[in-house]
Amino acid sequence: MTEAKLEAWLDETRVFAPSPEFAKQANAQPSIYTDAAADPVSWWRKQADRLVWHKQPTNTLEWEIPFAKWFSDGTLNASVNCVDRHVAAGKGDKVAYYWVGDAESDSRTITYQELQDMVCQAANALTELGVKKGDRVAVYMPMIPEAVVAMLAIVRLGAIHSVVFAGFSADALSSRILDSDCTFVVTADGAFRRGAASALKPAVDEALESCPNVKAVLVVKRTAGDVHWTDGRDHWWHETVDRQSTSHVPEFFPSEHTMFIMYTSGTTAKPKGIYHTTGGYLTQVATTQDYIFDLKPDTDILWTAADIGWITGHSYIVYGSLINGITQVMYEGLPDSGGKDRWWKIIEQYKVSILYTAPTTIRTLMKWGKEFPAGHDLSSLRLLGTVGEPINPEAWMWYRENIGGSRCPIVDTWWQTETGAIMITPLPGITATKPGAAMRPFPGIGVDVVDNNGDSVGNGEGGYLVITHPWPSMTRGIYGDPERYRETYWSRFPGKYFAGDGAKRDEDGDLWLLGRIDDVMNISGHRLSTTEVEHALVGHPAVAEAAVVGASDDTTGQAIVAFVTLRMSAGDEEKDQAAMIEELRQHVAKVISPIAKPRQIILTPDLPKTRSGKIMRRLLRDVAENRQLGDVTTLTDPTVVNMIADLMDTHSSGDE
Ligand code: PRX
Repeated sequence: MTEAKLEAWLDETRVFAPSPEFAKQANAQPSIYTDAAADPVSWWRKQADRLVWHKQPTNTLEWEIPFAKWFSDGTLNASVNCVDRHVAAGKGDKVAYYWVGDAESDSRTITYQELQDMVCQAANALTELGVKKGDRVAVYMPMIPEAVVAMLAIVRLGAIHSVVFAGFSADALSSRILDSDCTFVVTADGAFRRGAASALKPAVDEALESCPNVKAVLVVKRTAGDVHWTDGRDHWWHETVDRQSTSHVPEFFPSEHTMFIMYTSGTTAKPKGIYHTTGGYLTQVATTQDYIFDLKPDTDILWTAADIGWITGHSYIVYGSLINGITQVMYEGLPDSGGKDRWWKIIEQYKVSILYTAPTTIRTLMKWGKEFPAGHDLSSLRLLGTVGEPINPEAWMWYRENIGGSRCPIVDTWWQTETGAIMITPLPGITATKPGAAMRPFPGIGVDVVDNNGDSVGNGEGGYLVITHPWPSMTRGIYGDPERYRETYWSRFPGKYFAGDGAKRDEDGDLWLLGRIDDVMNISGHRLSTTEVEHALVGHPAVAEAAVVGASDDTTGQAIVAFVTLRMSAGDEEKDQAAMIEELRQHVAKVISPIAKPRQIILTPDLPKTRSGKIMRRLLRDVAENRQLGDVTTLTDPTVVNMIADLMDTHSSGDE
């Protein structure tokens, strides 16, 4: 973000009062903040009563920095909490998901009873394939109901899912499978995107060439394409799952039993396997969703427009929403599958009352124009949410006026894969909202903004965001690497969780999130590390050295800009630079994902380095954002950076 933009952003002083409609809700009592702050641990223990425990916990928190245990002597089953409890309570006929396909003609309605039947069948099928408690199962699926069913069936058995976003490449999938030693994979033959089928299974086949421990692959038939089949290893879902019994007797597991692993980018080339356990995670996802969205389970239709391949999908399409027993829309396609008003058609048709999405999507919808939402009846909406990156006030206001009819409160929710659930947010009936501010820590959560020495900053000042005490849905660590967990999150400010984000307290003490202060980039709400992309680039035989920075971008929040020096060999001068740049972009897509393709690649004979040989990324960021260059005196050759700035104008490339 440029300085000027930041200033303009923070100057925004508009305040919207708490919504009286929400203040009427039993949930919306201001004392919630003081009660929770007086004794957060007991407050969370009360919230844990939202869950169906097989054995009630008597322990609440055991805390040995940085390792927490919540409700450790309780036992429960996550899938029973999501599904069986509602059927047992006589709500089997209630719709769990209105699934909306990429094509307008494609839809399914799944009740809680049907969901329970499918989950039990899938659990029986996975058992037949050999899945047992503690096994790691990779899920590489498009947004179809079977993805949710697979996740619930896996945790029902006490196995651990590792959902890998289906947009990741074969290489990214195999490295994730290997890191946590997954022995099973659930996938689909393909997916639909704007009406076109695209294959998914070939990426699995390619990934598994280097994963000899994978014993079985369960494949949903989603498209009509031909698939390569490995007999003995591959099993069709419709042949293996559909013939199973719809009853399955669940086992109960300790609260601290690991439920899932979710890989996310940190500051190194290797993504971290963030893992979450059961009781604490489920308690916080259900509690936050209930209070923040002020849920009315009998009437609300929630649409969390995210992918189950990310934490938002896990917490607020699957676990939180199902525990709360609400009805949701789950959408397979892109925002413009079938036309630029597709989203608004869906909201109108299903009478969506709560929409939860990412700023990058809001900015895209905004670019398309307000005439698209204006052509539809969006009066069913009563609350809007955003997540994933800082939202600029302009997008916030557009969302409020054009989607929320200037009546729906907006909750800007800050959280991370590591936090498991929402941590900073307004509560619609209690707190005011400000365009661009996430406002306040959720009740029972301790947040601070500190300076370099770890001391709290005052109102009107900025610093590092830290979390001051343990919370139920906090990650229990990095899978297989407890030291890296301690080092990454708990060493910068001893005793405090260091989130990696910058934040500011405004004059009223409200919180504004300012983006990452480390080498993590946020591209359209997708988290990627600069090192990960650099690593991919230097893996190309023509690349000698690469430096990657995240530059601000009006639509995607940040965009990847790469500075690359090539290995010189005879004839290289002849090579077409544009072709080389395109080859490198495709290479990054192949190694990581199309979402990691640099917007621009600048081929340069040299990179700016300090005398100790460190690449000055700060200066490259200045170049990438067209800013005046900072201090260049520590460079070995200060002219390099000006040369790169000139190259930026001549040799850059970028499509999407
Ligand atoms: O930088 C923050 C940003 O997204 C990061 C977490 O990314 P991930 O683990 O992929 O989870 C995203 C979905 C929960 C954070 O470190 N971020 C997330 N929400 C916000 C945000 N930045 C500003 N405002 C938000 N509401």
